[in-house]
Amino acid sequence: MPEMGFQRSWGTFLVVVAAIMARLVATTMAQTNPNRTVVEEAAGWLRVYSDGTVERLTPPGAEPFTAIVPPYAEPRGGVTVHDITTGHGVDVRLYLPEAAGESPHRRRPVLVHLHGGGFCVSRPSWALYHNFYAPLAAELGVAGIVSVYLPLAPEHRLPAAIDAGHAALLWLRDVAHGGSNVYGDGHSAAVERFGHAADFSRVFLIGDSSGGNLVHLVAARAGDEEKPGVLHPVKLAGGVLLHPGFAREQKSRSELENPPSMFLTPEMIDKLLALGLPMGVNKDGPYTSPELAAMAVAHVRMPPLLLMVAEKDLLHDPQLDYGKAMEHAGKKVETVVSRGDVAHIFYLNFFAVQSDQLTANRTKELVHTIKCFIDRH
Ligand SMILES: *[C@@H]1O[C@H](CO)[C@@H](O)[C@H](O)[C@H]1NC(C)=O
Ligand SMILES: *[C@@H]1O[C@H](CO)[C@@H](O)[C@H](O)[C@H]1NC(C)=O
Repeated sequence: MPEMGFQRSWGTFLVVVAAIMARLVATTMAQTNPNRTVVEEAAGWLRVYSDGTVERLTPPGAEPFTAIVPPYAEPRGGVTVHDITTGHGVDVRLYLPEAAGESPHRRRPVLVHLHGGGFCVSRPSWALYHNFYAPLAAELGVAGIVSVYLPLAPEHRLPAAIDAGHAALLWLRDVAHGGSNVYGDGHSAAVERFGHAADFSRVFLIGDSSGGNLVHLVAARAGDEEKPGVLHPVKLAGGVLLHPGFAREQKSRSELENPPSMFLTPEMIDKLLALGLPMGVNKDGPYTSPELAAMAVAHVRMPPLLLMVAEKDLLHDPQLDYGKAMEHAGKKVETVVSRGDVAHIFYLNFFAVQSDQLTANRTKELVHTIKCFIDRH
């Protein structure tokens, strides 16, 4: 009898193992089509397969920057972080300084942050952004920084990210009007405090890299719509373009001569933009060409702009050209170049900011320049 019992339990064990194996095989089959092939690979950041699926990757060495920082309601460095569903089809991350709302009679400006990643990769929750923007929220004396979870290409090519940036402004309008619909999903106290501290007539757009292009594009959309009062009482008081992704089909001298970095290579410029721009549009279009971008807003009311450029950025030359073209079109642009051996989005490389004196100094100056720009507008 003991032998029977042994056989029975052994049999049961085999049945269970077989069931688990079958389950594993089924899930693997469902997740990956064995016939699919890689049709596009963008510099270790993104892979597009023949069956249309997209895989986002972190190249070796970039893991600390793409680590997700979850939101937190217990202040760290005087700031809390909240992920909020807006009701306009877009989620936002709110950096809320504790100091906001301390003096109820002094309302503070608001920053709307548009992240980079060539329209194809990266999230507001990455440590890359968190480690710069959370302290910035405390340092600038703003009511808060609203960072937009932008839809990503190639699933969502431009103008999807422009629509999302505009949707964030519509959400700010809702917050300005109060109303219970904007205080949903467990963040009511935070959003209410933000709403009471915010001066909605002083909203600034700020964006890194391709997010800098979005500052231009979202401001242009808002400028078109300010007349009919769609956004009232929200008003754009300025735009801050940090190392924007302006480029042309014909490579500029800085693209040929400046060294590539982990955050920007010539291959990334070509491949990410090819996947991010609308179908049939290349770099010589209004989204990335300095001259065409400026021409497209010639008759649009644009807020004053601060254009930050790094001396060793691959896109240094087209960025300066954008500043000149905008001035030529009669727009207010203040261009500031960070000198020395600093490259594309150097201020987001928190290891370099901690360990390299020049990067630390240039980052401090960049923050100071942003603060002065906001205080003046
Ligand atoms: C893979 O390709 C073969 C031959 O073309 C086909 O019979 C099979 O159904 C394909 N498998 C999947 C999962 O699409
Ligand atoms: C950085 O700034 C400090 C203080 O202003 C200065 O003493 C130092 O020389 C600067 N270092 C570099 C590399 O710019």
